[in-house]
Amino acid sequence: MAVLQDLQDYLEYMEVVGFENLVLDESPFAALLAEYRQAAAPSPRPSAVPPPARHAAPPPPLPAAERKQAKSEKPARPKAAANLMSIMNMVQGPLLEKEDNRAKAAAIQGEDKIDCLRKTYQTFHQCQACALGTTRTHFVFGEGNPDADLLFIGEGPGFDEDRTGRPFVGKAGQLLDRIIEAMGYRRDKVFIANIVKCRPPNNRKPLPDEVAACSPILEKQIEYVNPKVIVALGATPFSWLKGANMSITRHRGQFFNWRDYMVMPTFHPAYILRNPVAKRDVWEDMQKVMAKLK
Ligand code: URA
Repeated sequence: MAVLQDLQDYLEYMEVVGFENLVLDESPFAALLAEYRQAAAPSPRPSAVPPPARHAAPPPPLPAAERKQAKSEKPARPKAAANLMSIMNMVQGPLLEKEDNRAKAAAIQGEDKIDCLRKTYQTFHQCQACALGTTRTHFVFGEGNPDADLLFIGEGPGFDEDRTGRPFVGKAGQLLDRIIEAMGYRRDKVFIANIVKCRPPNNRKPLPDEVAACSPILEKQIEYVNPKVIVALGATPFSWLKGANMSITRHRGQFFNWRDYMVMPTFHPAYILRNPVAKRDVWEDMQKVMAKLK
């Protein structure tokens, strides 16, 4: 149980540096992993990721690869800070910051994919790296099909998302669902994530330090899901992907590459709710996306 030991050590380290009452908690991927293993068809595909469960059963047994790793692990393990590095490396992996991450990401398949996402969730779901951690009700990790071809990125949880722990479930989310369906998909066939995982007070835009603190999570989600196309919903995800403040009005509808991923910037559904004529633009953009996914 090398990973659990590392998580425990990590929590101990966090307590040493001042974060108290941290516990190992259930992952939203536990049910998915169990379901995936049960299906055991010749080439099973994982289904939708359920929303985070807060205080549920203990995590599922570790997959074979980790058990093997645990066996071959040297018995003496450095603690605290050194172990923080080891767990961050293990969870964030060598993929981060790599331009040529596509091939490596593609090599992570099926159960391993779910497991990578699960570990990422477990590492960060009690994150206090920025002030949003102190005001949130739920950490909104994101959800969907870990094998999705299409990944949507929003800005951050609002009131309904904070209350439920699920992304895009309020009015903007209902509109996003309709857009997804009009594209011939279902919500559980795509992956939906946000730039920040905790609600900014009064739905204000996330601050640069909040975005920076959350970035590693989204980077890992993108790499593990490894979608064919990413849709950036509004200026916040668009600017994050571009690494500069960008106007969505000027650039929407034009594909660009982030690392090796094709990205389509378009208006946020909340913007369409305020400016219904923008729906036509979004639909044009989504048709371009659909053409890439054929
Ligand atoms: N707006 C977002 O950007 N994300 C959500 O999850 C909900 C509303």
